[in-house]
Amino acid sequence: MASEPVIRPYVADDLSAVLDLLRRALGESPERPRTRAWFEWKHVRNPFGRSILLVAEAGRRLVGLRALMRWELRRPDGDPLLCARPVDTATDPQFRRLGIFRKLTLAGIEEAKSQGLHLLFNTPNPRSGAGYVSMGWQAVGSVGVMLRPKLGLFRRRRHQDFDLVGAVPELQPMTHLYVEDRAARGLRTPRTAEYQRWRFHDHPVAQYFVTVSDEGAAVIRPNLRSGRRELAVSEISGPAGSILRRVARSSDADYLIGWFSPGSPERTEAIRGGLIPVPWKRTLTLMARPLTELDLDVGIFSNWDLALGDLELL
Ligand SMILES: CC(C)(COP(=O)(O)OP(=O)(O)OC[C@H]1O[C@@H](n2cnc3c(N)ncnc32)[C@H](O)[C@@H]1OP(=O)(O)O)[C@@H](O)C(=O)NCCC(=O)NCCS
Repeated sequence: MASEPVIRPYVADDLSAVLDLLRRALGESPERPRTRAWFEWKHVRNPFGRSILLVAEAGRRLVGLRALMRWELRRPDGDPLLCARPVDTATDPQFRRLGIFRKLTLAGIEEAKSQGLHLLFNTPNPRSGAGYVSMGWQAVGSVGVMLRPKLGLFRRRRHQDFDLVGAVPELQPMTHLYVEDRAARGLRTPRTAEYQRWRFHDHPVAQYFVTVSDEGAAVIRPNLRSGRRELAVSEISGPAGSILRRVARSSDADYLIGWFSPGSPERTEAIRGGLIPVPWKRTLTLMARPLTELDLDVGIFSNWDLALGDLELL
C-alpha cells in the first residue's frame, strides 16, 4: 500500500484524475456522465459559487474526492442561509475504510465554516449515510414520490425510445420560468432567473421543457426509465394543476412523476393535476448539519420547502 494519504485542495490539473476516480467509485450513466462539461457545470459555473473541492492523494495517486457544492436557501423571513451540498463523494475502491472520506469531510467542514457557511445538507446513499451521522449529520426526513399513472401503464410493452421534444406538443425548451418566486414557507431555493437558467437550461445532459399558461407554469423533463416513458415534473409555479392535467392528456408518456414538500402550494397543485402521493415509496433521505447556531430547527422536515427540481440530477 502507498503512503498515508494527504488531503489538499483540488487544482485544475486534477480534473482528469478526479473524473477517473468518480467513474471508478460511482460509475457513469447517460444521466450522470463524468465529463469535463458536467463537472464544470456543477462545480464551477454554479451561480451560488464554485464548489469547495478537496482531494486525497496517496503517493502520486488521487484516491479521494470531497465536493461541497455551494447553495443558497431562503428562510421564511427572507434571510439567506449560505449552504453547501456534499456531493460526488468518492474513495478509490482500493483505499476504502481507511478514514479518507472522514478526513476529507472533516476538512471540508472546517473550510466551509471558515468561508462563513451556515449549513450543509445532502441526500446521501446508505453507504455514506452512516459516516455522515458519525460526523454530526441528522436525518431530516424521507423524500417520497407523487405519481399520475395513465391507463395501461403496466400492460404496455417497454419502449426503446421516447421522442422527448414531441412528447408534449405544448412544451417549449426551457430558458427560465419568467415568473416571480413566491415567499418561502420553509427553507427554499430562491428561483432567480440566473438559477433557473443554470439549473434547467444549461444542464449538460437533461432536457427540461416549460409549459406556461396565464395562470402558472411547469418545468418538465421527459425521460425513459426502465422502458417506461415518464414526464418528471421538476417545478411548478402558480396554479398549475390544470396545466398538469392537460399535459397528462395530450402527451404519450406512461406517467407523470414529481415530488413537492408536504404542505406546499405546489403539492396541492400537483394533486389537483392528478399526481397522487405514493405512501410506501421513499427515494432519498434528506440529511443536514448546521455549521453555526441556527434559530430554525433544520432537523424538522416541515421546515423545508423543496421540489423535485431541487434534488434530481444534481
Ligand atoms: C462511501 C465512501 C465514500 C466511504 O469512503 P471511505 O474512505 O471508505 O470511508 P471512511 O473510511 O472514511 O469511513 C468513514 C465512516 O463511513 C462509514 N462507512 C464507510 N464505508 C461504509 C460501508 N461500506 N458501509 C457502512 N458504513 C460505511 C462508517 O461509519 C465509517 O466509519 P468506520 O470505518 O469508523 O466504521 C466509499 O465507500 C465510496 O467511494 N463508495 C462509492 C461511492 C459512494 O457510494 N459515494 C456516496 C455517494 S452519496
